[in-house]
Amino acid sequence: MDILAALPLQIAFGWTPLALVRIFKLARVAEAMSIWRQHHIHLWNTLRLVYFVYWLALSVHWLSAGWLSLRGIPPGADEWGAYLRSLYWCISTLTTIGYGDITPHTNAQVIYAMVVMIFGVGMYGYVIANISTIITNLQPARTRYLANMEKLGAFMRSRDIPQAMQRRIRDYYGYVWEQRLGYDEASIVQGLPPGLLVEVSLFLKRDIIAKVPFFKGASDDLVKEIALAMQPVVYTPGDVVVRAGDPGTDMYFISRGSMEVIAPDGRSVVATLRDGEFFGEMALLRDQPRSADVRAASYCDVYRLDKKSFDSVVTKFPDFAAHLRSIGTRRMDRSR
Ligand code: CMP
Repeated sequence: MDILAALPLQIAFGWTPLALVRIFKLARVAEAMSIWRQHHIHLWNTLRLVYFVYWLALSVHWLSAGWLSLRGIPPGADEWGAYLRSLYWCISTLTTIGYGDITPHTNAQVIYAMVVMIFGVGMYGYVIANISTIITNLQPARTRYLANMEKLGAFMRSRDIPQAMQRRIRDYYGYVWEQRLGYDEASIVQGLPPGLLVEVSLFLKRDIIAKVPFFKGASDDLVKEIALAMQPVVYTPGDVVVRAGDPGTDMYFISRGSMEVIAPDGRSVVATLRDGEFFGEMALLRDQPRSADVRAASYCDVYRLDKKSFDSVVTKFPDFAAHLRSIGTRRMDRSR
């Protein structure tokens, strides 16, 4: 194709339709576009828009050139002006505006105009559909969020969920959207190869790692193991995260928000735990039921460490176990 496109046929035969073999050069453009798309997959939507505008401009130019060749340019007339008028006719026909100030005269022109009109209707629909898809895709997370919220609204209405509960559900999703743009961190990270998984987990959990004072002096291995095992969870105000008397299944690190430890009377607050603090360690460490209720006082971003991972960490890192034990003893003394 390259060889065909490069043959200087117009020199040999003049400007005959044979010169059109140069169109094969477009295969190069399509190939380059496909390569850019593969190399810049993150820019896919922007590139799609650019490519679309390119092909659209090219089609309009060709159609204008076709019209111009049918109309002809009177000798001595301004060539540029004639092309501009042809482009004007083409765009006004394609966009279905059709002012009617330039009209076909010969049969060939009438047929050409009809073809352009039919092409225009299809292209117009295609342009609108494409542009709206591209613009929608430029904000995929937001689009998904809005679609999910609509579905949720319909579901809640169909099930007659009370207004107050509906508001809480909406607030929850609103919060998760604001904090994480609606992405489920755990499921995205899961597919990564082991080496990258550790690095990405450490990066994503850098906030909580920096906030928990014990992690600052802890070994890299301990931090890595905990960062890999911790799962993000969100609690809304009033949620009871652990209930006194229940068996311990997880411990929690607070990344953002505040949690209240409730006294056995169920009313007074024994302690308020904030960013970087943890809870739920006592039942796991001492193999006993939960010592108190812990309730979210605000929206809370929390990381959960399940019992299996907790047991593995405390067995491998006795320092961590000793640290938790000393804090647990202090907490028990305070609760008495
Ligand atoms: P656990 O007994 O597993 O469940 C309730 C949690 O509340 C407990 O672990 C501690 O993490 C936390 N807790 C209990 N008493 C106090 C306290 N006085 N100060 C801070 N946290 C506490």
